[in-house]
Parts: sequence; structure tokens; C-alpha cells
Amino acid sequence: MIGRLDHVAIAVTDVESAAATYRDLLGARVSEPKALFEQGVRVVFVELDNTRIELMEPLGDASPIAAFVERKPDGGLHHVCYEVDDIIAARDHLLGAGARILGDGQPLMGAHGKRVLFVHPKDLCGTLVELQEA
Ligand code: CO
Repeated sequence: MIGRLDHVAIAVTDVESAAATYRDLLGARVSEPKALFEQGVRVVFVELDNTRIELMEPLGDASPIAAFVERKPDGGLHHVCYEVDDIIAARDHLLGAGARILGDGQPLMGAHGKRVLFVHPKDLCGTLVELQEA
């Protein structure tokens, strides 16, 4: 079921500052910030040869990552994203095995125009996992 690693997401309080750190300190290629209203975040993508890093800051008071960055003002690892061929089949497989899908179980439109959903960290080794349809 699980395919390639699409991205690793790091939550920060200030995405411009985080992007500047990746660009200036690590010499990374970074995108312009982009607001994802449905997910309540602003993101910058760091393009690496074999994957990408998603830097994200809270967007709006109801952002799902607001409490996270409040607990970790320096930023921190938020989730990893794996590709799957068929997101509905993957969801049904996970639900059938007793894993919990966040939200109402319906895929959201992700940052790359592909359907995504999130699996509860308690069901996947303490790590929030995003699944993205390839
Ligand atoms: Co993500």
C-alpha cells in the first residue's frame, strides 16, 4: 500500500523566517509562501533531490497547528506524507484494521492538488501520517 515519501512537514511560527533559514543556512531551493485555507496553514516548500520539506505556519485562529507551535515555539516535526495509489482503498483498509482517520474521513485537497487524509498518530507509531494519492 505505502509508496514513496512525498514530504516531511515542519511546523513553525514564521514561515518566511524558516524559509530564509533553509535557503541561507542550508542552501536549499524554497518556494514562495502559499496559503492553504482549507487546511489552515501557510506553506513554503523546500525542494530536495529525493523529496521535499513542507514548512508551515498557522493560518487563522482555528488553525489545526496553532496549539502545536504554541507548545514548540522553535518549530518541530509535524507529519510525514506517504504516497498511496488509491486513497479510498487505503482509507478503507486502515479503517478496517481499526486505525483512525482524522476529520470526517473524507479526503481533503492537499497542497499539491492531490487528495490527502491524515491518520491518527496513536495508530502509527506516534507520528502523524498524511497519505496522498499518487
Ligand atoms: Co503535508
